[in-house]
Amino acid sequence: MNIILIGPPGVGKGTQAKNIIKRYQVPHISTGEILRENIKKQTKLGIHAKTFMDMGKLVPDYDVLGMVSRRLADDDCFHGFVFDGFPRTIPQADGLSKLLSNTDKRLDRVIVLKASDEIIIKRLSSRRSCNNCGRIYNLLFNSPKNDNKCDVCGEELTQREDDKPETIKKRLDIYRLQTEPLINYYEKLDLTVFINGESDINNISEEIFQILDEID
Ligand code: AP5
Ligand code: MG
Repeated sequence: MNIILIGPPGVGKGTQAKNIIKRYQVPHISTGEILRENIKKQTKLGIHAKTFMDMGKLVPDYDVLGMVSRRLADDDCFHGFVFDGFPRTIPQADGLSKLLSNTDKRLDRVIVLKASDEIIIKRLSSRRSCNNCGRIYNLLFNSPKNDNKCDVCGEELTQREDDKPETIKKRLDIYRLQTEPLINYYEKLDLTVFINGESDINNISEEIFQILDEID
């Protein structure tokens, strides 16, 4: 199962990806998470990427494609993947298409999640995540049981650097400009399915599962 999740920041790509991988046992490839991991470890890529991410800008295509190419070569990607936050530009989509054709793979579906800017800003400003296990919470919609501690591993929850109001706005602008054109790109390939990202987390997952259950 080879899937892409596309949608604006905060629409719920990471939240849904985590539910999808639980059900279908395929790896979740979030370029944002890989980059944040590199920042934490202070790798050369992480130090370079941070300057773009802190401003809400995209990390250059060359760096992202190199990172994805290495990740796709891992054994766990043999039977599929769920991409979250990649591709984000037309050159990245072209690059992915080349990487897949080199290994005789093809995309099965591109799931497009949609939500209004108002909802997105509300969700992102109240998001908290666990740096240890990656679980995503929301102080308004999906809160942890214990104050600011992860339900799964007990680690302290943190707010992402790029979830400040001015950076959220910048990320939304960049999404409209650079990533939204991908919807048309994949529509032409007859791969897109549109999902209302404004409903309840579990309802959205059910809708996605219905679509993915039909893939052979
Ligand atoms: P990335 O990490 O991909 O961030 P993003 O696309 O901005 O999206 P988010 O992770 O912010 O949101 P999400 O859709 O995953 O929502 P979530 O599930 O957390 O990228 C970060 C940065 O890295 C980029 O700005 C860029 O600099 C760089 N980067 C990454 N990939 C790149 C690439 N390919 N090319 C170049 N640069 C790249 O949910 C949000 C909140 O809402 C949570 O609190 C959650 O609990 C809550 N929530 C989710 N669903 C619902 C619901 N249905 N109802 C109520 N609340 C909900
Ligand atoms: Mg995410």
